[in-house]
Amino acid sequence: METVQENVQFSEETLRVIGKIIKRYPEGKQKSALLPVLHLAQAEFGGWLSAPVMEYVARMLHIKPVEVFEVASFYTMFNLEPVGKCVLEVCRTGPCWLMGAEDIITHIENKLNIKAGETTADGMFTLKTVECMASCGTAPMLQMGDHYYENLDNNKVDELLEKFKNSHQ
Ligand code: FES
Repeated sequence: METVQENVQFSEETLRVIGKIIKRYPEGKQKSALLPVLHLAQAEFGGWLSAPVMEYVARMLHIKPVEVFEVASFYTMFNLEPVGKCVLEVCRTGPCWLMGAEDIITHIENKLNIKAGETTADGMFTLKTVECMASCGTAPMLQMGDHYYENLDNNKVDELLEKFKNSHQ
């Protein structure tokens, strides 16, 4: 798990992508590019947004670091602390709750020996609980990376944890 972020600098390729994103907006409105830039920053700098990374993004978009923090701390898809290789985002609201999301969360907590919001000692898994992810018809569900895993039960969760672990060794 990466815990130190010094010499923050986007790669040339990412800078090119960001340049294109910023150009979508009128001069002085660079803040509108904040969400996509934060996604790129999180992907490039170890899966989370440290204070130096948020300051870097703020300088790039000519806004204050606190404005970056306000946005980064509002959305659950952004991590403000180091996370594991596999970030499990379990929906806990509405239909997912009715269909047993609490049991799924408890099962994962017991299995990984962590509480929601924590990361396993080996740095493999982080467990997060999130609001509705628009997959209510296939509740309960979780997101890992770019994929949704739906109609979960404890057996399916066990299989997924094994699969995630094997593919991120
Ligand atoms: S309530 Fe879980 S995806 Fe909608």
